[in-house]
Amino acid sequence: GLPERVTVYEVGPRDGLQNEAVTVPVEVKAEFVARLAAAGHRVIETTSFVHPKWVPQLADAAELLARVERVPGVRYPVLVPNERGLDRALEHGVEEIAIFASATETFANRNLNRTLESQFEMFEPVVARALGHGLRVRAYVSMCFGDPWEGPTPLAQVVSVGRRLLDLGCYELSLGDTVGVGTPGHVAALIGAFGGPERLAVHFHDTYGQALANTLTALREGVTVVDASTGGIGGCPYAESATGNLATEDLVWMLHGLGVETGLDLPSLVETSTWLARRLGRPSPSRVVQALGTP
Ligand code: HMG
Ligand code: MG
Repeated sequence: GLPERVTVYEVGPRDGLQNEAVTVPVEVKAEFVARLAAAGHRVIETTSFVHPKWVPQLADAAELLARVERVPGVRYPVLVPNERGLDRALEHGVEEIAIFASATETFANRNLNRTLESQFEMFEPVVARALGHGLRVRAYVSMCFGDPWEGPTPLAQVVSVGRRLLDLGCYELSLGDTVGVGTPGHVAALIGAFGGPERLAVHFHDTYGQALANTLTALREGVTVVDASTGGIGGCPYAESATGNLATEDLVWMLHGLGVETGLDLPSLVETSTWLARRLGRPSPSRVVQALGTP
């Protein structure tokens, strides 16, 4: 069976914009976030407090948060890798953060300048302090299906990293297919290796065109939280082959077709993606935006 309702965890302003060639002006980002809330989103990952030299596109995180008008009932999580990032997030009134671990040694090194093991020394005090301040903490695991350097990631390695993050007190674990190599059988096997869908979310990138098929598989396995980016923008700057996330519009088209509720207004999302594409100087890769949008 399928869930009656799915929570779409919108990552466009963060995962989307972190990897666009164009650095978007902060007032455009604030309008993007406002439009997403107006289209019905209840959780919008807004920016990152990472090192500004590592991700210059999001170096305006503090300025953006100052501009975003909080809509009641909407959550605005931000990505935080370490205590320095948490300090910055706390200074700006953030109520929810997301930490992001790697399932592979090579990507831990490339994305976090840490080893697979030492990444936990970085996250432990972040989660402990954040929970102490009453924040909600989400966790990502990247490269859950494979990475460009080590090939397919062993299921047991993903489960081991993921369990350790949940055991720190994270409310949810988002399984990231950072480079989009996963296929549906692999998705079912990974959720099975976790012992079921409890506290799991899925985060697919559409590099190999598998994101929707993988999502449907995850829903059939009982997952009810799906990450997506409006317009399918973005990727990961430290994983060269990665393209954008599953497009929110493509996801919503499928879910509404299946009779699954999202609370989202598809025409508003398409209009926002068309508006954003003009500012990014490239068309949205989303098939639904291409079909329904006015160029
Ligand atoms: P590092 O160089 O090891 O940092 O980077 P450090 O702890 O050695 O500190 C060096 C200097 O940086 C210090 O300054 C710190 O204060 C400063 P100094 O004392 O030398 O003047 N610093 C900071 N400044 C501002 N904000 C901070 C911060 N931290 C240190 N937060 C670090 C380690 C983790 C910071 C770095 O590797 C980094 O920022 N990485 C982030 C990379 C990133 O954002 N990648 C994209 C997001 S992940 C993703 O997209 C995948 C996902 O979507 C899921 C999926 O698809 O799989 C989530
Ligand atoms: Mg991602």
